[in-house]
Amino acid sequence: MAILEILKYPHPILKKRCEKVERLDGEVKRLIKNMTETMYHANGVGLAACQVGVPKRVIVVDVSPIDPEQDYFALINPEVIAEEGEIEYEEGCLSVPGCSEKIKRFQKVRVKGVSEEGREVEISGEGILAIALQHEIDHLNGVLILDRMSRLKRDLYRTRLKKERRKEEDD
Ligand code: NI
Repeated sequence: MAILEILKYPHPILKKRCEKVERLDGEVKRLIKNMTETMYHANGVGLAACQVGVPKRVIVVDVSPIDPEQDYFALINPEVIAEEGEIEYEEGCLSVPGCSEKIKRFQKVRVKGVSEEGREVEISGEGILAIALQHEIDHLNGVLILDRMSRLKRDLYRTRLKKERRKEEDD
């Protein structure tokens, strides 16, 4: 297993719509293992493959640090098939460091996909699990929390990022 580099905004891969996985082969299984190790190493509760530079529809999720009743899982080609209610929660993202913002999402979702073992599965989640599922599926469609924030807040983050970069270059 290996800890992979997590790409940061504005890396172009993060803006891409990711490709469906056609075959659950050793490469995909290895990717899942490495993504899982990378997520835990970064203290994240979810990670999408594009965040480690692989534009494929694969996510790993483990929200147990926030909701101890939940477990780790990986999901291939996840797709939201039902959604209901509304929730607002302060989200962060490993690819958008230093950004933490309240985002509105569905309170409950039902997602179908393929498990790591190749089985068709459906996962129903509410609260933090629903949020994590929607956040990671957003990544697969090239959508970041920045895209779900107000324009003003997004511009503030971009300005702050540019200033930090300039400072780094000057140092
Ligand atoms: Ni994220």
